[in-house]
This record gives sequence, C-alpha cells and structure tokens, in this order.
Amino acid sequence: MTNRNILVTSALPNANGSIHLGHLLEHIQTDIWVRYQRMRGHQCIYVCADDTHGTAIMLKAEEQDVDPETLISQIKTEHEKDFQDFFISHDNYHSTHSPENEEYSSLIYTRLMDAGHIVVKSVEQLYDPERQMFLADRFIVGTCPKCNADDQYGDNCEACGATYDATDLINPKSTISGADPELKESTHFFFALSNFTEYLKNWTRSGALQDQVANKLAEWLNAGLQDWDISRDAPYFGFEIPGQPEKYFYVWLDAPIGYMASFRNFCDRSEGIAFDDFWNPDSEHELHHFIGKDIINFHALFWPAVLSNSGFRTPTRIHTHGFITVNGQKMSKSRGTFINAGTYKEHLNPEFLRYYYASKLTNSIDDMDINLDDFIQKVNSDLVGKVVNIASRCAGFIRKQFNSRLSSQPTTDLLAEFVSQKAELELNYEAGEFSKLIRQVMSMADKANQYIAEHEPWVKIRQPGNELEVHNVCSDGINMFRIIVAYLKPVLPDLAEKSEKFLNIDPLGWQSIDSPLLNHEINKFKPLLARAEQKSVEAMVEASKETESLVQPEEESVEQILAQIDYDDFAKVDLRVATITNAEAVEGADKLLKLSLDIGIEQRVVFAGIKSAYDPGRLIGKQTVVVANLKPRKMRFGVSEGMVLAAGPGGEDIYLLEPHTGATAGMKVT
Ligand code: 2FM
Ligand code: ZN
Repeated sequence: MTNRNILVTSALPNANGSIHLGHLLEHIQTDIWVRYQRMRGHQCIYVCADDTHGTAIMLKAEEQDVDPETLISQIKTEHEKDFQDFFISHDNYHSTHSPENEEYSSLIYTRLMDAGHIVVKSVEQLYDPERQMFLADRFIVGTCPKCNADDQYGDNCEACGATYDATDLINPKSTISGADPELKESTHFFFALSNFTEYLKNWTRSGALQDQVANKLAEWLNAGLQDWDISRDAPYFGFEIPGQPEKYFYVWLDAPIGYMASFRNFCDRSEGIAFDDFWNPDSEHELHHFIGKDIINFHALFWPAVLSNSGFRTPTRIHTHGFITVNGQKMSKSRGTFINAGTYKEHLNPEFLRYYYASKLTNSIDDMDINLDDFIQKVNSDLVGKVVNIASRCAGFIRKQFNSRLSSQPTTDLLAEFVSQKAELELNYEAGEFSKLIRQVMSMADKANQYIAEHEPWVKIRQPGNELEVHNVCSDGINMFRIIVAYLKPVLPDLAEKSEKFLNIDPLGWQSIDSPLLNHEINKFKPLLARAEQKSVEAMVEASKETESLVQPEEESVEQILAQIDYDDFAKVDLRVATITNAEAVEGADKLLKLSLDIGIEQRVVFAGIKSAYDPGRLIGKQTVVVANLKPRKMRFGVSEGMVLAAGPGGEDIYLLEPHTGATAGMKVT
C-alpha cells in the first residue's frame, strides 16, 4: 500500500450562530472519513475555520453593540469547544478573517485580473438612503407583485411561489432601517465564469463528484453560466479589494479560500508540511471537500474555475450530503427539534450521535431523517446491548478465574472470518458508505454474542473440568470485541480509547486487527457506556424549545396594527366551505401545494403556500374555507382559482380553518 497525502475540509460554519445537528452531521461524516484514513497510516490533514464575513455578521455585531471582530472571536471559541466535545479531530480551526486569507484572496484576485478573467460592470441595485448601504434581497420586504401578499422578501414570494427581482416589489422597505429603498448604480467586479462553461462540463464529469451531483450541475451548465459578482460596496465586513477603495470581496469569494488559509496557518506552525506540495497545479496529493447539497454551485463550479485560473490545483473529490430532518420534519425551534451541539451534549453522549449518523450515512445526497425514538432504540440495542455486552460477558471470568490473562490459542473460526471482511469494510469507509459498514460490523457483533451464548460460560464454569473451554470462549469473546471496536474506531474514538485501556493495549491500528491478543493480561472491566434514556431525549427537546412572543407592543392601537376596511368591503368576500378532493406537491415550488377543491357549485384548482405544514396526503377529504370570488390569478405553475384560508405563525404551524362536521361543500360561511 502506498501512503497517501490527503487534505480534507468541512464547509466553514457561519460565525453568527451556534453549531447544531446539521453542522454536526457534516463534521462527523468528515471526521469518520479522516480518522479512517489516518488509521490506515495515510497522512490526512483536516482543516476548517469560521466563515466570518458579510452583511449579516456586520449587522449582528451592530445589534449587540460590539465590533465584528469581538463577535467572531466569541463565536469561534464556542464553535471550537462544540467540535471538541463531539471528538471532531480538526488539525486546525482557523478564521476567514485572518492575514493568510487576506493574502490568498488578494493573490487569487490579482492573478485572475492579470489573466483577464475579471470584468467590471455597472449594476443597478436597491439602496437604503438612511443606512447608506446597498441592500441584498433578504434585507428588503414588500408586497408581492404577483399575488399582493405583504411582507415578502426581495427574491421570491412565500405565499404564491413567484420569483422576481427586488425592484419589482410593491412598496419595498429596507428591513434594516425601514426606509424606502432607492435605485442606485454602482460598479461591481465579476469573475468571468461564463467563459468556463465548457471547462466545467468536463471537470464535473472527471470523477470528482457523485453522479447525482454531476447530473444536477449538468442542468445548470446546459443552461449556460452567468458571470459571478464577487464584489460588494462599503459598508461591508470583509477584505477590501486591492486598489479599489470602498469595494470588498463578496463573502463567498473568500470563504473557500479560507480552506487554503487555514491550511497555510497550519503549515506555518508544523514541521515538514509544505503548502505548495498540496496546492500546486500538478500536485498528486489529494484535496477532499465535504459539503451540503445547498452549496454545490460554489464548490463544484465557481471554486474549480477560480483555482484552475489562478495557478492552483482543483479538488480531488467533493463529498456532498443531503439535509437532515428530525422526526420527519424540518428542524423546528417551536417543536424543540432545532438542537444545538451544546444542548445535546448536556443531555446525551456525543458518541451516540456519531454512531447514529454513521448508521444512516450513505454516498447519496438524499435527505436523512433523525427519528428520536429510533435513535434511542438503535444506540442502546447496538452499542450497549451488542458491542459492549461482548466484553462485559467475558471480562469477569478472565479476571476472576484466569488471573486476567487471555488464553494462548484462538479457538473459533469467527476471528478469521471477521478479519477476512476487512477489505469490504475498507471499500465502504472510502466510499462514505458508512451505513453499510455499520450493518456489517453489527452482524459480527451478533455472531460474537451468539457464540458466547451457545457456549454458556456462566453455566459451564460451575461444572468441574470445563475451565479450558470457558477460558477459550471468553478469550475468543474478548478478541472478537477487539476487532469490532477497531473497525468502529473511526466512528467511536472515545469508546475505542476506553477499550484500549481495558484491553491493556497500544492504540488500535488497522494493521494490528489481524493479530489476536494471546496470553495477554487485560485490565479490570469498567462499564464502557451508559444507556441513552428516553427522559434525557425529552429534556433535550424541552431545552431546545423556543417560544415566540405573540404579544403586540402595547402602545399600538388596533387601528394602527390593522389596515381597517368597511363592512361593504367585507361583504364582497364570498367565503365558502370547500372539500379538498386532491392535493399534490408542485414541482419546482418549495412551499406550494396544488389543491383540487369541490366548492359545491363547481370544481376549483387553488395553489396554497401550506406545504411546510401539511403532507398532501393528509389533506384529501378535509374541508376548508375558501375565498370563492377571488379573480383567477396566473401563477408560475398554473392558474389559481381562489384562496384557501389558514392561520398560524408560519412554517409547520399553519392551520386550515376546519368547519364542524356536517358542513357541505359550497355552504356559505357567515
Ligand atoms: O453555507 C455556509 O454555511 C457557508 N458558511 C459555507 C462556506 S464553505 C466554504 F466555502 F467556505
Ligand atoms: Zn406572491
């Protein structure tokens, strides 16, 4: 086996919030892969950093009345602790607000500029005259130009699913100051990405991406790429563009360069690791990025195009994963399923999460559900009930009857069988097929337990003449436990370390798996894991719940809060009971459901923005109230013939108004 030199990254967490279960999925996935490579004897360096730049962080610091530098340094300390608690073995955790990152961002920009790949264009954008800053779409709200829904953000409407430019909004307001934004021109710098469509068509098919990802990108590549706006105007928290006062690099330009910066910082503090060996265009060292599917475009289009045009190598592989849901739904603060690393750690063992994630991770970008009941069941049954059980069943006999010493000869073929499965496990680790390898190892644990149960050492030891058999069976048991723990070591490094102490051995390596412990003295067995308790999970969910205050500010009168209408206006609205005869998701719309309604006098099709709250299947047969005399409206996905009434704070909490049983479709609501 030739040794590999591998540099690995996870996406850089934003420095304006806490680490949560979603970040942990990615860092645990990366860490398992990294620990496996190191265990194989490869040089595997894992770097990360906080992603610190941009308007959101600048505004958050202002809100807290601190410098952005102070805010990002506090958050970095918290992030580092969270990752350590979950045994994430970063070799370096840096910051994008660092001298190394400024140096590489400027270098890359200058090289792109010198090569003619930066174009300057004039851009018209909404501007907040009070706060004197240009406004990104998410800092503008207004009325949807298509459906007239209020309070919609600058790029798309949550009510009707329409997408538009912020300048199309009716009565737009800046969310920062409340001012009316003005259109203003400014000069922006663009990376000429459109020149590299052909290059990227090849690169995305060169083996660096999962097929699912390459296929998704092909859709964009076939549509043709646009140049990429890499500058932002002051005020902005970031790096000023060299020679361009008041112009800053857009956060997404310097974020991936942060991978290089973190590695550079690591090289400067380490002996014998040369930055250029990893980043030269002809480097044969490997570069692996682990990311979520929402940021594929930055990593698999912009990043290789930027690197290959500025004198650096491109990634060897980009490992993309899907999103997580908890109990089948998006993480939710009101339900207590938006769980931060710190809250989890207060209630549960971090290795349980590592194991549970590993048991579900594959090489696909499909979303993954964490079911909290399944979580408890799985970690208790597999780790406590199967793996640790092997050691706890055998250790006492070895200690008491055999002076803590294992036998000198293995007697079961199972040991050789477990060793022979190594090559398949290697393939699964390498490919990120962790769920398969967990199944494989758990089947070994089942066999080991079965073997011990069949030989009943606890019965045999009471009958004279069976000492040798008991000694052999329990020594085999301990040796099987050792192999299983070694195979799981990248997933469960803490359990492995405690087991190494119990077994009285040096750290388990991949090679050492083949050689059983013979005539070897072990230490006293101490319980290696405590069960996960239902009440701990409940306490964690409770602690994660955030209730939103629904109380209106006192000084506002009802008239101020509501734009009042006359009775005559109200009387014009024809509200009728409708029966939902069909409901289906709308392709390409995140929030919309297409509902077929029976309103008594006729059938209607209505698009309703309630997908976040209802599975379409649950709606069929339900009744609801509909505004029946609303003029049909043409939407991106079809014509909507009415409006369904619902209430709630939004997200998953939207409730249809359900009339009492006995209402018939078409009945007027008064
Ligand atoms: O999506 C995010 O949270 C970004 N902060 C990820 C950056 S990854 C890399 F490009 F820096
Ligand atoms: Zn709309």
